[in-house]
Amino acid sequence: MINSELYPVIFKRKSIRKFVKEPLEESIIKKLKGHISKLEPLFEHIKTEVAILGENEIGGIFSIKAPHYIAIYSEEKEGHLLNAGYLLQQLDLFLSKEGVGALWLGMGKPQENLDARNGLKYVITLAFGKADEEVHRNSISEYKRKELDEISSVEGAEKLIEAVRLAPSSTNNQPWYLEGTESEMIIYCKRLSFFKNIFFPLMKKFLPIDMGIALCHLKIAANNFGKEIKFKKEDKPSNKNYEYIITAHIK
Ligand SMILES: Cc1cc2nc3c(=O)[nH]c(=O)nc-3n(C[C@H](O)[C@H](O)[C@H](O)COP(=O)(O)O)c2cc1C
Repeated sequence: MINSELYPVIFKRKSIRKFVKEPLEESIIKKLKGHISKLEPLFEHIKTEVAILGENEIGGIFSIKAPHYIAIYSEEKEGHLLNAGYLLQQLDLFLSKEGVGALWLGMGKPQENLDARNGLKYVITLAFGKADEEVHRNSISEYKRKELDEISSVEGAEKLIEAVRLAPSSTNNQPWYLEGTESEMIIYCKRLSFFKNIFFPLMKKFLPIDMGIALCHLKIAANNFGKEIKFKKEDKPSNKNYEYIITAHIK
C-alpha cells in the first residue's frame, strides 16, 4: 500500500525551482533509496528502474540546476508513461514530506550515456535538493487549479477528487476528467488542441505522465479514507475532446 503519510503532503506540496547548490546529507539520500525500493507500480508487468543522478548528469537548455536528480527508466509498453508518472509522484510527495524541494523536469535531458539503462529507456526526471525558497504552500488558495466541477461530474466523492484536482501537471495543464460514480470512476484525459499537438510534440509524452500522477493522488486519497481502489483498463469509448484512460473501481 502506498504510504498513508503522503496524503497530507498533497495539500502543501509545490514545485521548487531554486535549489541550494550543496548536496543533501547522506541520511536523506539513504532514506530516499529505501523509499525507492518500496515504490508501488500501477502496472506490475512493466519493468522500470529508478536512478539517483548527480548534478552534472542532467542538462538541457530549459532545464533547472539542482544538486540531485531522479531519473526513471522503463520498458516501452502500453501504459508505461502512466506507470512512470504514478511511480515518480510517490517520490515527489515523499521528498516534500521530508522537507526536500523537488521539481518534475520534463525539459531535462540526461547525458548521452544515461539515455538507457539495463535495456530500459529514459522517461523523465525529478530534480531535487535543499529548497532555496519556501518548500511548502501555506494554504489551498495558493494552488492555481481548475474547480472541482470543471474536472468531474462524479457525485459523493469530492474528497477523493480533490486530491486529483491538486495534482501537478506539465505546464499546469490539468488534463484529467472523471465521470461515473463513487465506486466506479471513469477517467479521461483531455486531448491537446490542434495547435499544441503540432507545435509542442513533447506535450504528447507528458499527458499520460500527468494522468499517472493524478492516479497516484487518487490512490493515496482512497487509501487514506480506508477504501480499496483497483485500476482497470476497460473497453470504454473516447470522444473528440477526451481520451479514455482507465477505470477506478473503489470500495
Ligand atoms: C510531467 C511534468 C513535466 C514538467 N516539466 C517541467 C519543466 O521542465 N520545467 C519546469 O519548470 N516545471 C515543470 N513541471 C512543473 C509544472 O509546471 C508544475 O507542476 C505545475 O505548474 C503546477 O505547479 P505546482 O507543481 O507548483 O503545483 C512539470 C510537471 C510535470 C507533471
